[in-house]
Amino acid sequence: MEIVHTAADLRRALEGARATVFVPTMGNLHEGHLSLVREGLRRGGPVVVSIFVNRLQFLPHEDFDRYPRTLADDAAKLASVSPDVLVFAPDEREMYPEPQSFKVVPDPALADILEGAFRPGFFTGVATVVAKLFGLVQPRVAVFGKKDYQQLMVIRRMVQQLAMPIEIVGADTARAGDGLALSSRNGFLRPEERSEAPALAAALDRIARQIRAGGRDIPAIEAEAVAGIAARGWAVDYVTVRRRFDLLPPSQDEIGTPECLVALAAARLGATRLIDNVEI
Ligand code: PAF
Repeated sequence: MEIVHTAADLRRALEGARATVFVPTMGNLHEGHLSLVREGLRRGGPVVVSIFVNRLQFLPHEDFDRYPRTLADDAAKLASVSPDVLVFAPDEREMYPEPQSFKVVPDPALADILEGAFRPGFFTGVATVVAKLFGLVQPRVAVFGKKDYQQLMVIRRMVQQLAMPIEIVGADTARAGDGLALSSRNGFLRPEERSEAPALAAALDRIARQIRAGGRDIPAIEAEAVAGIAARGWAVDYVTVRRRFDLLPPSQDEIGTPECLVALAAARLGATRLIDNVEI
């Protein structure tokens, strides 16, 4: 499996490629990432996986310096999925040889709500690095996990509004046997927190079942879910039902069309903040 670190080597490795499939990551790979890579491999190739911890999407108090850099392990995991994956692992100087003063600023109506309200500027950092990676990799298809649902919507909107000729594929969330969405952050959970963690997905599943069964009082359904997980010791940032395509609250008519809806949640267990969502 080939690993390249510079834009020049990436271009050489992709010379003549017409239908590159791209899976951007920040490394510290787990089965969730590998499922995105498998999704990419099903679409043809070559498949490029980028591994780059993007400073622009971390707030000053967040853990940029402590974010695990595990390139050798990541490469071994990718090689076990396919020897044909091309890994692009640039360093900070390669990606940001000068301060990144040109940025992609997503529509605040989409990017300043939910995760964006708790992590101001996060989606500008994500959109900027993804646009830059798209410029370097020039993919025909890019795969993003639905686990980061709002990120997927921001990228879809960016590609549409900036007329980038890239098909964005949203891949289903990989889950542990007990329902917990796979995430690098799960590794921070203490044993008793790990046992509790599936309660978030369970709360979202319950919301989905209530709405599919005809529940229409969304504020009451949301409030019941918040109270339920707060009572179990979670500090809840949000549990909410939104329209899938723009993540705004649904109208009464739209509530009657559950397949347009997604339930999203973010909550902290001890020091670890988890997010999850379920398409209804
Ligand atoms: O989802 C992630 O891992 C990151 O936000 C991404 C898309 C690789 C951009 O840094």
